[in-house]
Amino acid sequence: MSLIDDAAAVRLNAYAPYSKFKVGAALKTASGAIYVGCNVENVAYPEGTCAEAGAIAAMIAAGDTSFAEVAVIAESPSPVPPCGGCRQKLAEFADAGARITMATTGGVKQNMAVADLLPGAFDAGHMGSV
Ligand code: THU
Repeated sequence: MSLIDDAAAVRLNAYAPYSKFKVGAALKTASGAIYVGCNVENVAYPEGTCAEAGAIAAMIAAGDTSFAEVAVIAESPSPVPPCGGCRQKLAEFADAGARITMATTGGVKQNMAVADLLPGAFDAGHMGSV
């Protein structure tokens, strides 16, 4: 089973009654632990929380602090890239060299470096003198 399969499985649990757009995400750590998340919307904030943010929250809650691989899947004509906020969150917790696979439920896949999702990312080093 690939990490995309884990993301596809959790996507089925997405709570997206407002956008109707279900997204699943799965993270794998260097030691092989897998954490999953789906998007969860609510009536007050219909954009809700993204699948990637859910997977990161699950990883942190379990005591891991970085991942080596991430997979994201949605029903879309082309692979859905993480939103801007998720790019910042992924950058915070990605190992050096971490990869992302974006996939459609129809089988289209795109793989790239997480670092390439957010060139020039703001990081803790930029606050080095405070
Ligand atoms: N969404 C994600 O969960 N991840 C993405 O990478 C893109 C967008 C969700 C947020 C919202 O619930 C729905 O998709 C429509 O924006």
